[in-house]
Amino acid sequence: MSRRVKVLKTPYSAYQRAHTDAFDEELCRVGRGTPCGEYLRRFWQPVFVESELNDTPTAIRILGEDLVIFRDGRGDIGLLERRCVHRGTSLEFGKIVERGIRCCYHGWQFDVDGTILDTPGEPPDSPIRQKICQGAYPVQSWRGVVFAYMGPPDKRPEFPVFDAFEHEAAIGRLRVNHSACNWLQVNENETDPIHLTFLHTRLFGVQFEPVYGEIPTMEWIETPVGTLYITVRRWKDHLYLRTNDMLMPNAVRVAGIDDAEGETLFDRRGSSLSWVVPVDDTNCFSIGWSDIDKTLILPDRSGYVDRRAEKHEHVVGAGDVGQTGEPSYEDRQRAPGDWDAWSSQGQITLHSREHLGTTDRGVTLYRKLLRRGIRAVARGKTPKGLKFNGSEQRPTYCHNTVARIPKAGSKTKDEALKLAFGREVTRRIIGNEYSKDTLGCADPKRLAEVRRALGVE
Ligand code: FES
Ligand SMILES: [Fe+2]
Repeated sequence: MSRRVKVLKTPYSAYQRAHTDAFDEELCRVGRGTPCGEYLRRFWQPVFVESELNDTPTAIRILGEDLVIFRDGRGDIGLLERRCVHRGTSLEFGKIVERGIRCCYHGWQFDVDGTILDTPGEPPDSPIRQKICQGAYPVQSWRGVVFAYMGPPDKRPEFPVFDAFEHEAAIGRLRVNHSACNWLQVNENETDPIHLTFLHTRLFGVQFEPVYGEIPTMEWIETPVGTLYITVRRWKDHLYLRTNDMLMPNAVRVAGIDDAEGETLFDRRGSSLSWVVPVDDTNCFSIGWSDIDKTLILPDRSGYVDRRAEKHEHVVGAGDVGQTGEPSYEDRQRAPGDWDAWSSQGQITLHSREHLGTTDRGVTLYRKLLRRGIRAVARGKTPKGLKFNGSEQRPTYCHNTVARIPKAGSKTKDEALKLAFGREVTRRIIGNEYSKDTLGCADPKRLAEVRRALGVE
């Protein structure tokens, strides 16, 4: 009788796999009362594109809760539980009125905050409407997206504003992509820089720039807002540093896709800010903005961002390349993208069958911070990401930096130089040395400072 084992160690041994498949319940379950669900509910979550509100209510599902969203005759947006509090008819069939919405069945009228305004079939002196409310969540619109706060009312935080969008010129196209899988495996894609080398460059052709075919040095650090990956690639006599933010708990700021020609320091012209919002345990959507400052084209640059800017194109970074399941199955097999990678991990990936390596340290760190936040909330503490004062701006750090730094004498020395370069620039950025340069900088003096610090003048 063949023995069943948890970890296969011999060729042709699939039969021996023990039936112990499991996913990480603590990080993947998002419904009401689950540890991660309660954690995510402590943050404002983007739930709907404002321009898609129309004259009928829309049924949506967020964090496993069935809701309706609508804009009433006054222009106020309501996010209500979908089941009518009277006898459960769905408010997606309700009638939007000047103030709130009326249920289609018996005409009860609810304000956007859930207050019952009218129970027309009941006697005029019925006290029922003073005694109960329809379930409702507060919303806030920001740059065309409706955000909701679905956590405990007494813990509602200020609406977060990230530094990334302080310049109007940087606001770009809004995009929403759905995936039929758990939210975590989608979000983890952004802390996995090595897939850029294989999925996006070496295996199926160059999807962005040839420089990404290089295997970078990779480090991940904790920042005041989450984690940051630091990758450095050698490209001829330049070093190219690219970093991405994971913003706790479920947002990312991704650096633009650039090339490694021409120098630049702390270049944030083309990037994206997006969230992965759980619909329920096995569905989610990515929602956010790709942005580019079309007004800023640096001299002596011919990079991806500048080429897009010259053509007045909004989308930078990964854009929609590989972000949806829209291409045919065969096309996706011949040139898969991110969507195929994370969706094919399964509805909820089996964490018990993963074997994480050194290039997965970002995944490990991100999960560690998630667990820390989940457990802080469970203990009644304030998790990372909410510890900002009032309307204080949230800093982000993702960017590209390219500097002319010729190759060191040996491969080992060049690897050490790459790491030192990544650390030196990142140290300055986390220390806010360039906090005013929100849209990019190629100041030769500053690049010289970096070179001097590395001893490579
Ligand atoms: S079920 Fe909604 S008003 Fe009766
Ligand atoms: Fe990708």
